[in-house]
Amino acid sequence: MSDIEKTLKVAAMGDLHVREDNWTSYRELFGEISREADVLVLTGDLTDLGRPREAELLAQDIKACPIPIVGVLGNHDYECGAEEEVSHILRDAGMKLLDGQSVEIDGVGFVGVKGFAGGFGRRMLGSFGEPAIKQFVNETMKETLRLENAMRQVRSKRSVVILHYAPIVDTIEDEPLEIYPFLGSSRLAETIDRFKVSAIVHGHAHRGRFEGRTPAGQPVYNVAKHIEKPTGKPYAILEI
Ligand SMILES: [Fe+2]
Ligand SMILES: [Fe+2]
Repeated sequence: MSDIEKTLKVAAMGDLHVREDNWTSYRELFGEISREADVLVLTGDLTDLGRPREAELLAQDIKACPIPIVGVLGNHDYECGAEEEVSHILRDAGMKLLDGQSVEIDGVGFVGVKGFAGGFGRRMLGSFGEPAIKQFVNETMKETLRLENAMRQVRSKRSVVILHYAPIVDTIEDEPLEIYPFLGSSRLAETIDRFKVSAIVHGHAHRGRFEGRTPAGQPVYNVAKHIEKPTGKPYAILEI
């Protein structure tokens, strides 16, 4: 059917870090985005300290946004241990907040999971030694399994994977080498590469490169607000 093949314009942005003090409203930017795109994807670190009050401020802008908003939480959204309340506030405002699920919008499947750290390639942290290390690695494995399960549910030919943590190193270049293992894990890319996807977006690395590819050649975009993008704006526009 021809309408299924229609290109979906997806705006993507991460790391809004909404704070109670020094609050900048995203209402105007979301308005601008809704004139340029069909869907807005938010890749986590929506709040700065995971405070419900911060989520409430963002919720006002989400409610006012005329296009669907879909996304994931980031590590900052867990800081206060109030992630359930934060999630509830954002979902109540109409955001499709994904945490190991998928949702279809206009023929495109969106799959979302926060992801976790652990490092890349042959240098990634292995499950060896103290229980704390094993627990750390297990957290990454758990996230990749949830991602895999969500990806299996996608029925549409076109799909976008939404992460907070980076699945590859290409898009975190410019960050200090010492913190690479805390910025993401290639276990995420290994899982994604078992499927064919249209795009993978992430945030978390405020410094880095906009575009990269998984080992299987699938496009990855670091859409953290701070990253320079072809649009010249804090958000990227992807045609899916
Ligand atoms: Fe961030
Ligand atoms: Fe982050």
